[in-house]
Amino acid sequence: MKEITNKIFYVGVNDRNKSLFEGLWPLPNGVSYNAYLIDDEKVALVDTVEVDFFMPFLENIREVLGDRKIDYVVVNHMEPDHSGSLALIRKYYPEAQIVGNKKTFDMMRGFYGVEEGLCEVKNGDTLSLGSHTLQFVLTPMVHWPETMMTLCGDVLFSGDAFGCFGALNGATIDQEMNCDTFWLEMTRYYSNIVGKYGTPVQQALKKLAGVPVSYICATHGPVWHEYVEKVIGIYDRLSRYEAEPGLVICYGTMYGNTERAAEVIARAASQAGVKNIVMYNVSQTHHSYIIRDVFRYKGLIVGAPTYNTGLYHEMDVLMAELSHKDIKGRFFGYFGSYSWASKAVGELARWNEEKLKYEPVGEPVEIKQALNADTIAQCEALGRAMAERLLAE
Ligand code: FEO
Repeated sequence: MKEITNKIFYVGVNDRNKSLFEGLWPLPNGVSYNAYLIDDEKVALVDTVEVDFFMPFLENIREVLGDRKIDYVVVNHMEPDHSGSLALIRKYYPEAQIVGNKKTFDMMRGFYGVEEGLCEVKNGDTLSLGSHTLQFVLTPMVHWPETMMTLCGDVLFSGDAFGCFGALNGATIDQEMNCDTFWLEMTRYYSNIVGKYGTPVQQALKKLAGVPVSYICATHGPVWHEYVEKVIGIYDRLSRYEAEPGLVICYGTMYGNTERAAEVIARAASQAGVKNIVMYNVSQTHHSYIIRDVFRYKGLIVGAPTYNTGLYHEMDVLMAELSHKDIKGRFFGYFGSYSWASKAVGELARWNEEKLKYEPVGEPVEIKQALNADTIAQCEALGRAMAERLLAE
């Protein structure tokens, strides 16, 4: 197995079989469940892997340790993609003490019935393994309440933080691979999995400020070494909801009328100077990609038809998902269409007024049946208004 540095080994696994992470989020490039072994006078395993992968995980551990035992299992996070193998690890290594905090152990009882051989730690506590010393940093809500990170010298075992989707194709450390595919997947991972918890992420970053970190060993994705500063910067910007001056236009459409309005709006925004414009048919693109881009870009224009005297279903779902993310400081425009009863535009207004609370930009456009000269002009005005607001930033 790969030695990351100073007797710290990668023992994680890759999952290229699952199509939806948490049953929700597509995994076009798979995902890795990362775990690490620290080989010292006392041996510590940091996190485990999803239970389906227990046997290859055990083989990875044995490749490093042979028949030697594990003394400690550090549980930074209890979500089952990382804790799923705990009960089996306990069977294979019955003497191992499980290290976690009070909230960890409450969940451990509930998920796995594990109640004995526990070593409870508090924020700042340390644990000596011999030449390595672990220090525990409690980082609640990055991503669950029990989440913590573990420092070992200049190596940070960060749990989900700084992680991303994408299996590891041979290499483990960023400097050994082309990381291009990981950057957008890091944003999609952050925005959909951790994105609701911007304030706790900021608090965690403050706790870690000034700590020299040369390696970030997250629970998903590459081990960061060359790009430590870059990934901390990405998490810092995303958790402050900072965005680039770009525009997301997404729409639902049944027969193309709402889609044509979206095209007119996009052309007007482009002609007014907005270079970063992404467009999505909300029925064709999984919401996780749209949410990713709402984290990336400052402007959002949404449009949908009226359906069943309400808002087109896929757009309603997207609005609900966006409202769960608590994204702050975006500009919002909207439009809609109807055949005989107007509803969609009013519903989009309600979503923003009651839940999203983004800054409204331009006049909403409502199209009865198909576009005409008046509504084309209104769409152009909406695109220009958004462009002006974005470029004024
Ligand atoms: Fe990768 Fe929150 O678990």
